[in-house]
Amino acid sequence: MALIPKETLIFERSIPGKTGMDLPRLDVPVAKDTRPAHLKRQSFEAMPEVSEVDVVRHFTRLSRWNFGVDDGMYPLGSCTMKHNPRLNEKVASLPGFTESHPMAPAKHVQGNLSLMWTLQEWLKEITGLGAVTLHPAAGAHGELTGVMLIRAYHISKGAKRSIILIPDSAHGTNPATATMAGYTCVEVPSQADGTISFDDVSDSHTGKSKKGLLSLIKEHGREIAGIMITNPNTVGIFEYRIAEIAGMLHEIDALIYMDGANMNALVGVARPGDFGVDVIHLNLHKTFSTPHGGGGPGSGPVACTAVLEPFLPLPVVVRTPNGFELDWNRPRSIGKMHSYFGNFAMEIRAMAYCLSHGSDGLRDATLRAIVNANYIRKRLEGVYHLQYSTPTLHEVVFDDNNQSKHGVTTLDIAKGLIDRGFHPPTIYFPLVIHGALMIEPTESESKAELDAFVEAMANIAKEAETNPESIRQSPAKAPIGRLDETTAARKPILKWTS
Ligand SMILES: Cc1ncc(COP(=O)(O)O)c(C=O)c1O
Repeated sequence: MALIPKETLIFERSIPGKTGMDLPRLDVPVAKDTRPAHLKRQSFEAMPEVSEVDVVRHFTRLSRWNFGVDDGMYPLGSCTMKHNPRLNEKVASLPGFTESHPMAPAKHVQGNLSLMWTLQEWLKEITGLGAVTLHPAAGAHGELTGVMLIRAYHISKGAKRSIILIPDSAHGTNPATATMAGYTCVEVPSQADGTISFDDVSDSHTGKSKKGLLSLIKEHGREIAGIMITNPNTVGIFEYRIAEIAGMLHEIDALIYMDGANMNALVGVARPGDFGVDVIHLNLHKTFSTPHGGGGPGSGPVACTAVLEPFLPLPVVVRTPNGFELDWNRPRSIGKMHSYFGNFAMEIRAMAYCLSHGSDGLRDATLRAIVNANYIRKRLEGVYHLQYSTPTLHEVVFDDNNQSKHGVTTLDIAKGLIDRGFHPPTIYFPLVIHGALMIEPTESESKAELDAFVEAMANIAKEAETNPESIRQSPAKAPIGRLDETTAARKPILKWTS
């Protein structure tokens, strides 16, 4: 059955007097209305008067316009939209978890504390680091926590440091985090292979020389508090000189923050602690399969070296001879970063994911994610342009160089995918690649699904040559075509007014 192309707002379906329920007549006197006048609603116009059938059909129809990981491949690069196993949901809804109160004394919630402690131990093992906090509620929140640990470390040594180095391929949250934590960001350029440049480089647009890592370390020396490196970086390339970078920064007592949002390319294969990383965040809502639709709730645990452990947020779950306890006695802690213990329900799901996969299964997921991304890369290489020939891990970033010759842009390609039944990839990010199409299939996709995606992409490329207008007009099959995205972002209408 065809989708109804236009769905009016529920308010526009309102008919005075229509109702969704049938309440019995009052059999008691009407209570005296004691509400202060200023708190009373002046009119009920803002409430739609509709039947239950109206409500159910309206929202069911709207839900069909949505596209989620349960509908099909969702190759949103950097976001890691992998399958959310149903087992996770089952475990997280066990009454022992859902009915426990966050303020219950530790002795009454030993099971919950044991789960948190065990997850911390798994994350320590996975990252190769000495301590973990589960508190942060998202990747960016984990970044802030991690950078605050770095700041606390320098303050504890009486050192005044003001700079965080950030590669130009960094995720946008990295400079935002460093700035929020009070640091000045200094950009490190990429070199021709897409990794951090040690040497000065010439900007391809302006022709101006940009200082590479070596010059920046020489210039700023002990003003540098640390560096934030996404690894694999936002182009999907492993920063293969990271141990060398760590060595150089450690020489001036600066620390290495690794943005571990892309750890789904490393789990079970390489441990950041082994290549010199001091602190890292993980996105449970990406690497560890917990859901992140609609903006959350996420979870961004932070792992760090034993040197940074005293600064971890409060409280810390510890194991003692008497069982699990919450340690509040940490005078050097950066304080609280989240109410209670973070998003506990996400911690349960991540633990279920780890236990159901086992260490071999986690490694296998990593390898499959890499194979899937490279399968797409290999099959579409040439059809779509690749800025870097350097091998990539869990994602592949093409651009619209080949198609723009025919007047078809990255945005058109993304819209063309909607007509072919796929969610578009991340577009125009990372900024280091002009017209980027960032594809991350994850390990969840079968070969059949990958082949269908490749065919859709190849078909768009072919049509861009033979009938570019049809791609520029897409999506033609979706209920809504092209939106005025600038107005939608700048002047959103979020409220119905009559
Ligand atoms: C590389 C990278 N860093 C940081 C983040 C921020 O994570 P969050 O959206 O959970 O705040 C993301 C999110 O996709 C990311 O891909």
